Amino acid sequence: MKKLFRIGLLLLLATPTFSQNPYTAKAKALMAKMTLEEKIGQLNLIIPGGAAVTGSVVSSDVENKIKKGQVGGLFGITSPEKVRKAQDLAVKGSRLGIPMIFGLDVIHGHKTIFPIPLGLSASWDMGLIEQSATIAAKEATADGLNWAFSPMVDIARDARWGRISEGSGEDPYLGGQIAKAMVRGYQGTDLSKNNTLMACVKHFALYGAAEAGREYNTVDMSRMQMYEYYLPPYKAAVDAGAGSIMSSFNVIDGIPATGNKWLLTDLLRKEWGFTGFVVSDYTSLNEMTNHGLGDLQTVSALALKAGLDMDMVGEGLLTTLNKSLKEGKVTLADIDKACLRILEAKYKLGLFDDPYRYIDEARPAKDILTAENRSAARKMAAHSMVLLKNDNQLLPLKKSGTIALVGPLADNRRNMLGTWVVAGDWKQSVSVLEGIKNVAGNSVNIITAKGSNITDDTALFLKRVNALGVEAEIDARSPQQMIDEAVAAANKADVVVAVVGESSNMSGESSSRADISLPASQQALLKALHKTGKPLVVVLINGRPLTLVWENEHATAMLEAWAPGTEAGNAVADVLFGNYNPSGKLSATFPRSVGQIPIYYNHKNTGRPFDGTGFAKFKSNYLDESNDPLYPFGYGLSYTKFDYSPVKLSKTTLQGEEKLTATVTLTNSGKYAGEEVVQLYITDPVASISRSVKDLKGFQKVALQPGESKEVSFVITTEELRFFNSELKKIWEPGTFIIHLGTSSANVKSAEVIWNK
Ligand code: BGC
Repeated sequence: MKKLFRIGLLLLLATPTFSQNPYTAKAKALMAKMTLEEKIGQLNLIIPGGAAVTGSVVSSDVENKIKKGQVGGLFGITSPEKVRKAQDLAVKGSRLGIPMIFGLDVIHGHKTIFPIPLGLSASWDMGLIEQSATIAAKEATADGLNWAFSPMVDIARDARWGRISEGSGEDPYLGGQIAKAMVRGYQGTDLSKNNTLMACVKHFALYGAAEAGREYNTVDMSRMQMYEYYLPPYKAAVDAGAGSIMSSFNVIDGIPATGNKWLLTDLLRKEWGFTGFVVSDYTSLNEMTNHGLGDLQTVSALALKAGLDMDMVGEGLLTTLNKSLKEGKVTLADIDKACLRILEAKYKLGLFDDPYRYIDEARPAKDILTAENRSAARKMAAHSMVLLKNDNQLLPLKKSGTIALVGPLADNRRNMLGTWVVAGDWKQSVSVLEGIKNVAGNSVNIITAKGSNITDDTALFLKRVNALGVEAEIDARSPQQMIDEAVAAANKADVVVAVVGESSNMSGESSSRADISLPASQQALLKALHKTGKPLVVVLINGRPLTLVWENEHATAMLEAWAPGTEAGNAVADVLFGNYNPSGKLSATFPRSVGQIPIYYNHKNTGRPFDGTGFAKFKSNYLDESNDPLYPFGYGLSYTKFDYSPVKLSKTTLQGEEKLTATVTLTNSGKYAGEEVVQLYITDPVASISRSVKDLKGFQKVALQPGESKEVSFVITTEELRFFNSELKKIWEPGTFIIHLGTSSANVKSAEVIWNK
């Protein structure tokens, strides 16, 4: 009896997946009935013709493939009617009736569009970010979907890379917190509910470190850099229970991520304990051939063995695995492993209990673009905006007098949503002009003028940017005529509000820019407006940090509004007129010039640090540019003023696992109620490796009435002192640490502590 018990116990310990995952047994039982072709079919994810595509391939003969059991999931279609038709083919038309999963790029909202992810991250508000994902899940499931290709958690330190707009910026701690909030928002606590979606964390891994910010480019990085700065957000999403992961386009240590065994198996599964499934990016499996890894059969076998489970669009697994099995290049166990993971996901989603649980034709009208969802999007957008400059307290604007509202993005709905809005409809969005009218009513007189095209560069820019549909057009008027009209409007006004920036697809995938300034047409407009001598508010609608040195010097006030989403105009107006006092903080450094890139706050000190102004020979600096960014990470102003007391520490010497409390008294000494993001950074000045100058380790968003003070405290443990050493062990080393609390990475109050082992 005792022996039997011991054997049972051993078996239990030896098969952790059984005890962890209640669906494994069911999936295995189903697999016992499946043919080899049907198993391989589960690994195939395809996009039917007519859907939004980001590559050159779309599948043909989709209907027949589904009926033959050759398709595990579809992506790119929306609406319960269309999804039902497709699911019918699988459930009623295929031999075993295995349901398909339905995915989509639900990135920052489904049909109610929230700010682009870079904007979301600038709110530093995890509650609102989670809520945006919950609403996206509710709308997307109402549209028949059950799988979102989000969150995108790639760390990016290079604003030339267009996809910096899709992530949470440069910091691993902030990025990790947001990754968790997004996964919680999409997946809720029960994936089988009909209003939750399976998350797909992407792009695993390091995609944001593409050399020179050029899309799809090579990545080459030390393991220490990966573990400390680039991998934590993916790990955070895995820890939060994300059901799936998408491999990235780039190489890692010379091997494409999609076929990288170290990445997909050793790190992801063995080290991190990930139990979901891995899907490739769009044809990234086939692209391994261009990377120089061999023909389609070779790379497909390599990817499967490395740990890839599902092939997006490329059909490499579908068309080659049978042959590879016969030739001994893969084993049945390799195929079974991948198939099992995909079936388990379908069980988790509840699709085997009811393949139609996400398909309800009555739901879109009830759940999509509701007043409630729109109001959440408006709030989120206002919270994401960052006040970059506000001379003479020009903002908030009074709801009286005359405003000249100018710029190519002022009376523009088309470019309010930003990149990746597969299901979003720009016609549903609110322009800045409409928003100002809604918020200020008849009490302000508004004179409008377009002032310039988004760009005049037809030959190059416009045609490329308009690849996904016309978002910018060249006006029939000449550039000078438009500028003259804007100047005339400005001359009649008390204040000028210029809404300028990028069109939606000037950032996002395949939108790298070598020059990240405002297009020349818009710079010329701003220069002409400045000459009028009128107070000038620049509202920026854009998807990435821009170089704005001239604008920063000459505008009276600047508001970074990102691509704010469906409620864009209302949210911009809420902030401009002070209905909401801006509280956003940058999650990515704004460089002064492209030559400074990559530029990020948590850099190392170098052996010859530069700490002054001007140029210093034989120091780490530039002959022709300052080292400082234009706006540092964590930066953002408020209409009110926040004062920080010196940092108080509960102790100045600690031992081992003791805890330290660092406190600052925050006072709102201005005239407006407001919120401040208090940021905690730690410096480890002496260690066994060269550490960064400081790292973000915590933050709190605090609301204060005018005149009110609050003590804001952070509890610090040795966890916050840990780093990956040269053996990739996460350790802490005793010594002195500098604790910083402040309003941005460049503006902090500091205190020292000695922490002994
Ligand atoms: C992108 C992914 C996206 C996929 C499917 C790819 O080009 O890199 O982020 O999820 O297309 O649309």
